[in-house]
Amino acid sequence: MKTCAKTRILGTGSYLPERVLTNKDLEKKVDTSDKWIVARTGIRERRLASRHQATSDLALQAALPALEEAKMKAKDLDLILVATCTPDSPMPSTACHLQNLLGAKKAAAFDLNAACSGFVYGLTVADAMIRSGAAGNCLLVGAEIFSRFVNWSDRGTCILFADGAGAVVMAPSGRSRSELLSTHLYADGAQADLLKIPALGSRKPATPAALEKNQHTVHMKGNETFKLAVKGMAQAAQQALKESGLAVDDIDLFIPHQANIRIIEATAKRLKMPMSRVMVNIDRYGNTSAASIPIALDEAVRRQRIKRGDVILLDAFGAGFTWGSALLRW
Ligand code: ACO
Repeated sequence: MKTCAKTRILGTGSYLPERVLTNKDLEKKVDTSDKWIVARTGIRERRLASRHQATSDLALQAALPALEEAKMKAKDLDLILVATCTPDSPMPSTACHLQNLLGAKKAAAFDLNAACSGFVYGLTVADAMIRSGAAGNCLLVGAEIFSRFVNWSDRGTCILFADGAGAVVMAPSGRSRSELLSTHLYADGAQADLLKIPALGSRKPATPAALEKNQHTVHMKGNETFKLAVKGMAQAAQQALKESGLAVDDIDLFIPHQANIRIIEATAKRLKMPMSRVMVNIDRYGNTSAASIPIALDEAVRRQRIKRGDVILLDAFGAGFTWGSALLRW
């Protein structure tokens, strides 16, 4: 395989399960209100996977339109990367299930877990593998079924997280001006306890006692997470601008991780980015973790909010903590 100087996105796709869960529906499950949820998070409704769907099924539905737009067949893929923290199972990887569903026989496949920052981390890995010549054509999918890892009696988390998938097909940019300009990644494992799923792993296996205590579901200290999310996302975005020599005014569209409208607004305010240039769809889909940025990117492409030559800034924050940004010329 040949090395190359730059990579680009050739196609995008996304998939949201049909079932809609509104804030009114949640009022029947926990002590909350539509008014509180909208005011504190910006979420009005979210999508939930059906009982028969696993994360790889959602990933497949996002991958197909991305491949179509890229005018590529599954057999042309060299690498399938799935960013997820809610995989089909601990092993084999969700990416291997997706490889089988697609019939992408020559593709290597693995998962990447950086929680809600997974898509930005995945872009970095895919870009580096393509540029080094380790892979040619790469399918990167952010896919989550958070509804299976949420405690439906914890009003602090069950109102936020949701299901969905978004995908991109990447390849060497060749002569195209369209390219991934830079990525910046960060992590701080000292903050691991603020946002976690405590059980289901080697430290705490899924014993009956762990399940009884709901330790297989998301535990979050929302307030602390909120503050560090704003700080981390602003830092990652500022670093991307500084190192590329671009100003906020050069960014045509800012696509932040859709965690909470107040986090998005506070980050935009720190960056002095007008909300008219910020992509927001959290009202309809909630927090779909690693899927949120590629879903928003695909929506922006299909609604023609992005045109050739536009400069796009992606910005994420998630459990770990992990955070990071990616700068693209479309
Ligand atoms: N309905 C009504 N009241 C609620 C609800 C609810 N759904 N949830 C919490 N409250 C109450 C609390 O019990 C508390 O009541 P008290 O004052 O009587 O104790 C009050 O509201 C305020 O609670 P806070 O937690 O301080 O509320 P906050 O304004 O911080 O909002 C939220 C909570 C929405 C969770 C917010 O903190 C948040 O969005 N945090 C960040 C989420 C995030 O970005 N996660 C990271 C990425 S996700 C990933 O990596 C997988």
